[in-house]
Order: sequence, then C-alpha cells, then structure tokens
Amino acid sequence: MTERTIAIASDHGGVELKAQLAKDLAEWGWRVLDLGTDGPASVDYPDFALKVAEALKSGAAERGLLLCGTGIGISIAANRHGHIRAALVHDAFGARMCRQHNDANVLVMGGRTIGPEVARDCLKIFLDTAFEGGRHARRVAKMSENS
Ligand code: RB5
Repeated sequence: MTERTIAIASDHGGVELKAQLAKDLAEWGWRVLDLGTDGPASVDYPDFALKVAEALKSGAAERGLLLCGTGIGISIAANRHGHIRAALVHDAFGARMCRQHNDANVLVMGGRTIGPEVARDCLKIFLDTAFEGGRHARRVAKMSENS
C-alpha cells in the first residue's frame, strides 16, 4: 500500500501539540511533511496556512493538519485558498462529520483549547473517515463554484 502523506503546520500557539501529533501520525504509518513552525518564537499563522495549502495543491500531501492557539485564525486563513476545506474541530463528532458531510481536507485544532488526548482522537477519526458523497457532494461542489 502506498504510504499516505499529511502536511502539518502551526504557529507558536500550536507548536507543542503539533510535535505530539506528529509522533502519533508516524506511529499510524503516515509520512509527515512538517512545514513548521519549529519553536516558541512568535510567527504569523497565515504564512503556515499557506504552506499547507501549497502542499495540497502541488500534490505533495493529500491531507493537512493546522494548529494555532485557538484554531480560529489559521482556519480562516486556510479557507481563503479555494481548494482547501479546513474544519476547525473540538471533538470526535465534529471530526467525523467534517469528513462524512464536508469532505474536509484539512483538520484544524487549537493548541490552547483542546487537550492532547482529545486532539489525537479527532485526528485519527479525521484520517479514517470517508466522505459520504451523495447529497453532500452537491453541496461541496457548490462551495468550489464560489471560490
Ligand atoms: C497567537 O497569539 C494567536 O493569536 C494565534 O495562535 C491564534 O489563536 C489566532 O487565531
């Protein structure tokens, strides 16, 4: 089976959670493309949303994970890119629904708003859940028409 690749990035507000989740991803057999940031120094989250958006556009990665302090800024920034469907998630239900109904290709969480165990569960569900298609495909297609 071909190894799957996920592009991950965060600002300083999500850098610790990113490091923890990168280990989980490697254990689950994902190739991790870590696009920074690498430490606690203050950086601008739109720059890191852009890096993940570019990785998905080029085909370097098939999924993305973005983290900032709340997840809010970096999800807004990511969704400015027309091919990105970034879902800010706080629990397992949201992680499942963003795949089943929205075909989200980027998972977003807040390093200051979610615990590491819940974040790990959300990420696993996001990766393992398929898009349901059907009526949801029509709705997802409409979002692309307007981007
Ligand atoms: C950075 O301090 C913080 O504003 C950022 O991580 C994020 O929460 C923005 O939405």
